[in-house]
Amino acid sequence: MVKINLDFVEGLTLEERAALVPGKDFWFTARVPDVERMMMSDGPSGLRKQDIDASPADINNSVDAVCFPSSALTASSFDDDMLYKLGTHLGIAANAEHLGVLLGPGVNIKRSPLAGRNFEYFSEDPLLAGRMGVAYVKGVQDQGVGVSVKHFATNNRENQRFTSSSNVDERALREIYLAQFERIVKKAHSATLMCSYNRLNGTLNSQNQRLLTDILRNEWGFEGLVMSDWGAVADHIAALKAGLDLEMPGKGQESVDEIVTAVKEGRLQESTLNRSALRVLKMVEKWGKKVTEAAPYNKEEQHEFARQMADDSIVLLKNDGNQLPLASGQSLAIIGELAAKPRFEGGGSSHVNAHHVVTPLEAAPASAKYAQGYSLEEERPNEKLTADALQLAKSSDQVIFFAGFPEKMETEGLDKDTISLPQNQNELLAQVAAVNSHVTVVLENGSVLEMPWADQVSAIVETYLAGEAVGEATWDILSGKVNPSGKLSESFPLRLQDNPTYGTFGKDHDEEDYHEGIFVGYRYYDLHEMPVRFPFGHGLSYTTFEYSDLAVREGKDTVKVSFRLANTGKVAGKEVAQLYVANHVSRVEMPVKELRDFTKVALKPGESQEVTLTLPRRAFAYYNVDKQQWAADNGEYEIMVGSSSRDIRLSTNFNLTIGVNPTSAVTGNTYVGDLWANQDPHVQKAMKDSGLYELLAPMMKDEQWVAISANIPLRSLSAMGVDEEVRKAFFKLLN
Ligand code: BGC
Repeated sequence: MVKINLDFVEGLTLEERAALVPGKDFWFTARVPDVERMMMSDGPSGLRKQDIDASPADINNSVDAVCFPSSALTASSFDDDMLYKLGTHLGIAANAEHLGVLLGPGVNIKRSPLAGRNFEYFSEDPLLAGRMGVAYVKGVQDQGVGVSVKHFATNNRENQRFTSSSNVDERALREIYLAQFERIVKKAHSATLMCSYNRLNGTLNSQNQRLLTDILRNEWGFEGLVMSDWGAVADHIAALKAGLDLEMPGKGQESVDEIVTAVKEGRLQESTLNRSALRVLKMVEKWGKKVTEAAPYNKEEQHEFARQMADDSIVLLKNDGNQLPLASGQSLAIIGELAAKPRFEGGGSSHVNAHHVVTPLEAAPASAKYAQGYSLEEERPNEKLTADALQLAKSSDQVIFFAGFPEKMETEGLDKDTISLPQNQNELLAQVAAVNSHVTVVLENGSVLEMPWADQVSAIVETYLAGEAVGEATWDILSGKVNPSGKLSESFPLRLQDNPTYGTFGKDHDEEDYHEGIFVGYRYYDLHEMPVRFPFGHGLSYTTFEYSDLAVREGKDTVKVSFRLANTGKVAGKEVAQLYVANHVSRVEMPVKELRDFTKVALKPGESQEVTLTLPRRAFAYYNVDKQQWAADNGEYEIMVGSSSRDIRLSTNFNLTIGVNPTSAVTGNTYVGDLWANQDPHVQKAMKDSGLYELLAPMMKDEQWVAISANIPLRSLSAMGVDEEVRKAFFKLLN
């Protein structure tokens, strides 16, 4: 193979270089002399490799592949190792199919419960989304397959996704919507990023120089390639200039001519074209494979992993009276069409032609009886189906009710307009709960839903879209073969109306204002002390865990938090211990707490383990918009460790000193109260030597003055009766 460098690129004809920057077709890069074409395919949760001759529009016609759980579920594992293994399996499959780059994972933040693609994304929290993304990308890329992380960025709604502008303030952009991409770029070095369709603060992302070059490359040091989402390019020349390298899919000869003409007319510099052509060739050099017959690989093993991935992620939301695991020897009713026709994956480009689906009905104990209960094709209750289901519920010891969103409600390219289950499911559930007091609800859905019946049932199991092993994994949890250890990666509000985007999301055809700023998900519900159905990080177990001995130690660059975790129950289990930090020092809007680290620990009954988590400075930082940098202010923070965002077991206050001193720059606009709190020895000396300290000290003994002085700036010290000469002397000594 030839050496790919700028000399090689410059040796190609203009036509050849121009042919490299659009895709050759829907899935391939172009061939040039000495360099083969490279294929890419979709696949956050399994390969969607379309036949080379298949119509791209025939979206569900792709190769046979194992369908793993969707990201909404895998994130609930809170398990970096499992995500790495998932990536490994996808890499193995992609290699066998000779794919150069896998298109996924999607790491956008779940801002609104109505967003149609939430099932494909990890979380409402950027740390969790970023950690899951890093592990996944490393897993795939360690197998020699590149990854395209998508959709960069602020693509948080589907309706009008090609044109709508996500209008986001700078802090929310950095802290909530970009942070997970930043983490993945810096820690996992993804081969490529996929630029999203939408506009960001008015500028189309595919032409957004600030996003694609200034932030991505200059700030974060990204060295890979940026490709467009399919059809996201409106002006290819402007896109190339802004930092987009590869337009997907290409528009054929038209794309090539457009670029050749732009170069000839001086509208596009050759160096810009060469830069992107080189990035395409470097990608092909590193990740490309010769496209031949697919090689066999072990799909049974992958199916088994899909089951384990679901086992480790399914969330036990409620379990009153230890209804689960199911006791043996009881008669079981299975109600709901979703048991026989499960939802196990989402619609659109992530759709996998699943290798071997095992339905919950197929995996159920042989003695269980089934009633369809409702039809997925309809919304209204059906008398006959209802009567049969109630009859069965009455005559059974236990009911397992399968509920969820029908497929048409959850697909790429479309937002929802409700998070209610269809009427026939909600009504039947309430009726069943009225005749049987041992109802377990198993949910199959891609994103949050309202549960008006939650208080009437004993147990609720959230399986999201669990992949092709949905049946086996569901019964692993119900039977107790597996002890549930998943935790919610998003908050479940009581009602859609409780979400901050309610009433505004998707309402404006062209503009989507992110008016809630950084207060997304639990950051919003916590701020308003709102009750939720189930909080972020929530998930029960068949055993119990005890937390103790919290200790916080500051090192040179990091803060170490340690505690002891014990399994105090009767069965082995895994606990996701979550570390939240509350900032009590910075003088900017702050969430009540933010997830800053987590770990998943497996413990046998009676076993305990000391856990130590290491927080970098960034864990204490917010994005300082004025200074355009991350700042961790020195001062008081609260460190909280717990089993969910609303089940904090240990907490302590802690004084950070390895950050920056937030009040060190003293000017005429500095308030007297802040000056008084300033610990900087130089500032304190200037106060003493100028006589200012002596004048202020008696006043600062008076509570009223303390309060008022917090709002008097130093330039107006005379309002406190301080002599002008003293003020001048203070500033002279200070500067
Ligand atoms: C989706 C991408 C996907 C691409 C190729 C687009 O519609 O937004 O996520 O990778 O199609 O199928």
